[in-house]
Amino acid sequence: HQPMRHLTSLRTGGEIACVAFPDTPEKAAALVARLEEHGLRWSPLGYGTNLLVADGPLDRVAISLRQLKTPVRFEGCQVKVPAGYSLPRLVNQCADRGLSGIEGLAPIPGSVGGAVKMNAGSHGYEIADVIVSVDVARERRIVTLPRETLDFAYRHSPFTERDLILGTTLQLRPGNPEASRAEIAEYRRHRAATQPVRDNSAGCIFKNPGPGLATGRIIDELGMKGETIGGATISPVHANFIVTNGSARAADVFALIERIRSRVREARGIELDMEVEVWE
Ligand code: EPU
Repeated sequence: HQPMRHLTSLRTGGEIACVAFPDTPEKAAALVARLEEHGLRWSPLGYGTNLLVADGPLDRVAISLRQLKTPVRFEGCQVKVPAGYSLPRLVNQCADRGLSGIEGLAPIPGSVGGAVKMNAGSHGYEIADVIVSVDVARERRIVTLPRETLDFAYRHSPFTERDLILGTTLQLRPGNPEASRAEIAEYRRHRAATQPVRDNSAGCIFKNPGPGLATGRIIDELGMKGETIGGATISPVHANFIVTNGSARAADVFALIERIRSRVREARGIELDMEVEVWE
């Protein structure tokens, strides 16, 4: 009976049946197989930084891979990294080793597995651009899926609810540690200046609707910054962020999402798609 509000950066969400922390990929795969055998609903839980969980209670088991003991392995310009690893930490380590290609992912506060699942990106970088393969627990087996077989797009991966991403291998290129560190510092500075980094949020709530269109700008132009329902507010810093106070309910966030959607639909004829994952 874990309250999900303690496990998500948005700080909302009711009780979930259980959170499991398998420490090897084999145990994780076996757990998935057992849960499916018993017809129990399960979901992978990364760092909870792109997740909106309903007020619940929720009848599902979350599987966190934070405690996987698999080490990070560097081999030439490739790195094999477990799903529960911190993305910002990985970006720093690559930079220190003179490996370039993921600097733009530095400000994303999530796990590597979560980044693969949503094809996380920022500053023109997307994790799919450097993926060589992804290890997945699928239908009772652990399989390694090469990039060519995986259909990634903007904030989209081909993985389904029945896949548990266990890790990935990334292809980087030789770089210069000083240059990479400077680039990373610039992206972090930009994020701190343009996004509400000190507030509870799940990052951008909606996807951008198309090339050259920014949801944040659209909501801002409609004058919606600061609008509040219960404990949830459209961030005055960046309009595509909903921020919450300590007492917000997920229902407040859902209501604000619906309000934004209908205003944008009426004013601009645009149907906004969710960027955050939702557990209901
Ligand atoms: N803008 C406004 N008002 C706002 C927010 C933005 O006018 O309240 C304008 C900005 O001035 C800029 C444009 O909208 O001209 C785009 O804004 P920004 O540079 O902040 O980028 P974004 O498109 O809103 C995307 C990603 C972010 C990522 C940044 C930086 C999406 C949905 N969002 O935001 O990702 O950090 O680029 O690369 O693709 C996330 O995934 O959770 C996320 C925050």
